[in-house]
Amino acid sequence: MKATLYRNARVWTPVDAGTPAGGPLQGRVASWERGALLCRGDRIARVGDEREILAAVTPVDVGAEVDCGGRCMIPGFVDPHTHLCFTRPREREFLSRLEGAGYLEELKKGGGILSSVAAVRAAGEAELFEATKARAEACLRLGTTTVEIKSGYGLSTEAELKQLRVIARVGRETPLSVVPTFLGAHAVPPEFQGDPEGYVELLVGEMLPAVARAGAARFCDVFCEEGVFSIAHARRILGAARAAGLGAKIHADEIHDTGGAGLAAELGAVSADHLLAASEANLAAMAAAGVVAVLLPAAAYSLRKPYAPARRMVEIGLPVAVATDCNPGSSFTESMPFVFGLSVVQMGLSVAEALVAATLNAAYAVGLGREAGCLAPGRRADFLLLDGETPGVLAFHAGVSPVRSVFKAGRLVHGAASAAELGGSREAG
Ligand code: NIG
Ligand code: FE
Repeated sequence: MKATLYRNARVWTPVDAGTPAGGPLQGRVASWERGALLCRGDRIARVGDEREILAAVTPVDVGAEVDCGGRCMIPGFVDPHTHLCFTRPREREFLSRLEGAGYLEELKKGGGILSSVAAVRAAGEAELFEATKARAEACLRLGTTTVEIKSGYGLSTEAELKQLRVIARVGRETPLSVVPTFLGAHAVPPEFQGDPEGYVELLVGEMLPAVARAGAARFCDVFCEEGVFSIAHARRILGAARAAGLGAKIHADEIHDTGGAGLAAELGAVSADHLLAASEANLAAMAAAGVVAVLLPAAAYSLRKPYAPARRMVEIGLPVAVATDCNPGSSFTESMPFVFGLSVVQMGLSVAEALVAATLNAAYAVGLGREAGCLAPGRRADFLLLDGETPGVLAFHAGVSPVRSVFKAGRLVHGAASAAELGGSREAG
């Protein structure tokens, strides 16, 4: 099979050391001012300095050559935390919050997450698929090539399975790699109001086994929060999930410190997410246990909360990833470029640290650290060309997407429609 050579690119990539990158490794990237990437089929064959690569490949081996015009090339984003599978966003609720309404108060009144549950339960599977697919395609145009999608707006066995079928179908019918997560413990559904124990019983006894039998999810997640699910509930649910072969994730300490970060460390969860209110001791326990901290600055933005202490996390060696948390309520954005900008400007990550957070560490947070998230030989050829010279343009050119082209598994899936449009390409060999 002939290879394609992408040359004249400013290549930036995390360097994988075999584990999530924490502490000083959080900002460890390789870059080449005049770099190149050689792709064979869906895989990366070589990456590095253009001259060295040209010297190493024979012209007959190269089927096509693309001049990237000096644009910055980075790995495709991995968005490791989304709730993309819903019908419509709750814009009115956002307006009420701007007027002072509280997020958890909405939920207590049966709104918030529960109003999305009512809508998803009522929706036909085809309609839910179209809505979810449209949003996934928006993610792709913004540079996301791997996305985690949670259920959690069904909250019954049947409706959760409907969501998980839709999520799997998005993986089959779009170029995106999709990682499905079962979030049956997102809220207590109306039919169990006042009886969370009864719902946890159903979840562990019926929903989880059905999800596992169908092979419909890779991870199980729990929204651990005051008035939602307690630490004891989460311990029970995630223990059962592990026994059924699913990895653990936790929505931890988003609004109150209930000890979710500590539980993630205790269980060896793959990630704990949000962490706005987590204690320093529990963050340190996560670092020691190798749990990735998935930060969701667009949720902090939309809820007008202080951002998670990302700098402190890096200082204590906790690997940081970032995600959109795209959902109909607390964070309505598909944009990893926006999240990248918030990570740098509001959370104080360096450009290199944010790049690792949005690619390699994000890949580790969904169990794909050895497959996605960096540009290296043997990895899937998921990469982006940016209209800029460094990944810093993602933060600098705000409110728009500097993502010019998106390549998934070696194929152009969005952007400059032909190599010629990128400027200065030619067919070779
Ligand atoms: O991660 N916090 C819980 N779940 C989502 C919000 C879901 C919703 O508001 O619909 C989150 O922010
Ligand atoms: Fe979330």
